Amino acid sequence: MLQGTFDKEQRSSGQTIISCSGEDMDKLVIEGGVPLTGGIDISGSKNAALPILFACILLSKPFTVTNVPNLRDIHTTIKLLNMLGCTCTYSEHCVQVEPGDLLPEAPYDLVRTMRASVLCLGPLLARIGRARVALPGGCAIGARPVDQHLKGLELMGASFQLEEGYIIGRCRRLKGTHITFDMPTVGGTENLLMAASLAEGETVLKNAAREPEIVDLANFLRTCGAKIEGHGTSVIHIQGVTSLSDGQYAVMPDRIEAGTFMVAAGITGGELLLHNCPFQELESVVRKLNSMGMEINETPEGVLARCAVPLRGTDVKTQPYPGFPTDMQAQIMALMCLADGASVVEESIFENRFMHVLELMRMGAQIKVSGHTAMVRGVQKLTGAPVMASDLRASASLVLAGLAAQGVTEVRRIYHLDRGYEHIEHKLTAVGARIQRVQE
Ligand code: EPZ
Repeated sequence: MLQGTFDKEQRSSGQTIISCSGEDMDKLVIEGGVPLTGGIDISGSKNAALPILFACILLSKPFTVTNVPNLRDIHTTIKLLNMLGCTCTYSEHCVQVEPGDLLPEAPYDLVRTMRASVLCLGPLLARIGRARVALPGGCAIGARPVDQHLKGLELMGASFQLEEGYIIGRCRRLKGTHITFDMPTVGGTENLLMAASLAEGETVLKNAAREPEIVDLANFLRTCGAKIEGHGTSVIHIQGVTSLSDGQYAVMPDRIEAGTFMVAAGITGGELLLHNCPFQELESVVRKLNSMGMEINETPEGVLARCAVPLRGTDVKTQPYPGFPTDMQAQIMALMCLADGASVVEESIFENRFMHVLELMRMGAQIKVSGHTAMVRGVQKLTGAPVMASDLRASASLVLAGLAAQGVTEVRRIYHLDRGYEHIEHKLTAVGARIQRVQE
């Protein structure tokens, strides 16, 4: 299990930059029962910003990425990019990238804290023909193999060997080819998309993942001069170029953060207006929340999420985009715990993504898990309790349950939460939640 403490440096801008080192015992203490009302600004997308920052390895000119959320994983990525030879600085949600002489090594101590570090593999091979990246290993939600990344890069001419837990890759200039993924993999599609941008000739990615974050990465690369067509569909065509240019790009808003706050409105019986909220990209989530009795509508000021009737149960199966996102499974399950009737949740993407279930049950939820399926029976109320976060979205689920529970909930190990939610306690306090971060 990862341990990490946050040394908060107060920058001249007054903005707190969260960086991680050591043991973190922060917890969130929540007194539930308050219907949340008001406006929330949705931050830039973690899962779009991470590949876009790694794609900066491909650049030979300075670049500026804006709307980058102030998150632990972002600062981990910046630290890694600086170790690889780029010069990256973060200030006011903006990352300035100065390319430099690249080094090939992504060390285990960094990679083990953030699996997405494997996204430096494709860009390093494309730029300097070599890479030594620690094998990410598994995490709480599953084995998370990277075989599809390696298979695709091998088809493009790379060769790999595994030494002391490191993937060591070498290649001459990567060559475009046809690659069919065994399954739609977000990271695999992103790694190959980046590698193909500087490869020789055309690359066609089939059975590619279609997530909006991949579209955002492709749009960033096109801004730099890459020749990409079909992004957002399951067949992507890339014509390799010899170099990418400079420029500026704004990261898309975070659809999973937005979905999480939609659930916050529903579970507390409140009404939240989400500014900078992606709406089309949340179609499968909005459809499911509406089927539970929520009303979620686009307005000129943002997306209004409210719950006017008693919640009713529904069934969800997580799928690759545009299906219901696995990253919203834990959050909607919290909502189901207080809905009338039964709900069935099938997790089809990851093999161990029910870590939030036992913690929700400590709060009075009635859930029965059988394999990849959880049966949720709605209860009248949840009661506050000390609970333990195990991964990013499980943490969010416990916070949501705590906002609705009677009494006080303490969510421990919230360094998981800080990976993907920017100042969540500040955003929730601003709409009425009784929540505070406490150092144990
Ligand atoms: C990305 O992870 C996201 N992370 C995850 O979000 C998200 O849950 C996941 O996509 C699915 O949407 C980032 O974008 C940084 P995958 P990724 O490759 O790329 C199997 C969060 O909470 N697979 O699409 O690692 C894999 O085991 C995080 O923000 C292989 O078998 O996911 C899984 O079952 C959690 N071999 C399935 O594919 C491979 O080489 C989907 O994984 C690659 C993947």
